[in-house]
Amino acid sequence: MRILLVGGGGREHAIGEALVRGGAELYVVSKHKNPSLVRLAKGYGLAKETDVGKVLEYAEKFGVDMAFIGPEAPLERGIVDIFEENGIPAVGPSREAAKLETDKAFARAFMERNEIPGRKVFRVFTDVSEMRSWIDDFGKPVVVKPIGLTGGKGVKVVGYQLRDNEGAKAYAEELIRRDGKVLIEERTDGVEFTFQVFSDGKRVIPMPLAQDYPHAYENDEGPITGGMGSYSCSNHLLPFVTREDYERALETLKATIEVMRKEGTPYRGILYGQFMLSRDGPVLIEYNARFGDPEAINVLPLLKTSLLEIAEGIVDGNLGKAEFEEKATVVKYLAPKGYPGNPVKGVRVEVDEKAVEEAGARLYYASIDENFNLLGSRAIAVVGISESLEEAEGIAESAIPHIRGELFYRRDVGTKKSVEKRIELMKELGREFEPNPC
Ligand code: GLY
Repeated sequence: MRILLVGGGGREHAIGEALVRGGAELYVVSKHKNPSLVRLAKGYGLAKETDVGKVLEYAEKFGVDMAFIGPEAPLERGIVDIFEENGIPAVGPSREAAKLETDKAFARAFMERNEIPGRKVFRVFTDVSEMRSWIDDFGKPVVVKPIGLTGGKGVKVVGYQLRDNEGAKAYAEELIRRDGKVLIEERTDGVEFTFQVFSDGKRVIPMPLAQDYPHAYENDEGPITGGMGSYSCSNHLLPFVTREDYERALETLKATIEVMRKEGTPYRGILYGQFMLSRDGPVLIEYNARFGDPEAINVLPLLKTSLLEIAEGIVDGNLGKAEFEEKATVVKYLAPKGYPGNPVKGVRVEVDEKAVEEAGARLYYASIDENFNLLGSRAIAVVGISESLEEAEGIAESAIPHIRGELFYRRDVGTKKSVEKRIELMKELGREFEPNPC
C-alpha cells in the first residue's frame, strides 16, 4: 500500500517510521526535506503543506492509495475533503470536523451545546467595551485566546500566562483589533496532560498519556514553544493522573466523537485532548485535530499494532485495536539557540548517529534540512525508551552530547525533580492521591 505522508517535522518522522514498520510504501510531501524521511521514502515532493493543489499533484504522480496528514494547517485548508473528492482517502478530519482545533469558538460552543464533560465558561467578543465589562463582572482570572490557529509556537502567549486581568484585557483588545474577535475563558489552575486517541468516526482507541513541556527554558520558564520535550509512563498513565481522571478525560473525547457523528460531521483521524488536571478533575484546554509534536514521538515508537492497519481502519470506518508496549519514554527536543523568538538559522549541526544508537537512544529529525542545516524551529528530538522513566531519561541525556551545534535543550524534561514538582502542584491544589509509579 502506497501512502503519502504530508509534513516533514519530528512528528511526521515518527508517523513515517511507524507506517513503514507497519508495511507501508512511503511517499512524503513537505516544505523541506527531512533527512530521515528522505531515507524512508520511495519518493519525496517539496511543497508547502498548505498548497493542497500541489500536494495533490504529487499524490497523483506517486500513485498513492491513501494519505496521512501530519500538521493542522492543511486540515484547515480542507485537504482531506479535496483528496477524497479526488478518490484518495486520507487520515485526518474533514475541514468541518477539524474546526475542533481550527476554530476555538466553535469548539467551546460545541462543548457547551452538547454538555461535553470537561467544559468551561467562555465568551466570544467582537466589541472591546463589552469584553472589558464582562471580564470585570466575571471577577475571576481569565485566559485570552485567538480564535484561529496560532501555529502553537513562539506566539505571544495565547492565554494562560496572563496572570492579571488588566493584562488579559489589553491582550484581548489587541486581538479584537487584529482578528475582529477574541475568545475569553475562565482560567483553570492545575497541571496539563495530553490524551491522544484514534477514531474512525465511531470507535475511540486511546493511546498512552503524555506530558508536554511547552516552555522554552528549564523550570517551566520562558516563552511558550511547540513543546521542548515530553514523557510518558509504562502504565500509560501519568504520576499525577489517577485511573478515575483518565476515565473522565476519555469520556470527554468519546462524547466528542459521538456528538460529532450525530451532528453529521464524523471525526476521523487523531483527536488530541489537551487537558488541565484541576482540583476537580480534567478540564479540556483545547482540542487538536492531529498528533502532538513531540507527543507522537512518545507513543508511536511503542505501537505494536501496524499503523498502516490503523490508518486503513480509520478511513474505512472499521478501526480495530491499537496496542502499545508498556515502556516509559522521554523525548528531548534540541532547538536552535534563540528559539522561538530569534532562532539561529542556516548553520550546520553535527550528528554522530552511530554514537546515539550505541547510547540506546533514537533520533527524530524535524526543522533541519538534508544537509543538516538548521531551519529555525525545533531541530532534532532525542528519545529514550526503557522500563522506567529514570532510565528513559538517562538514555536520552546520554545521547545528547553526540549532537553538536548552535542548539539548546531542557535538561529537566522527564526528570524526577520536574515530575515531583507537578505532583506537588496537584497536592497544593488540594488533591489527595497516591502518585502512580512511572
Ligand atoms: N505539543 C503540543 C502540540 O503538539 O500542540
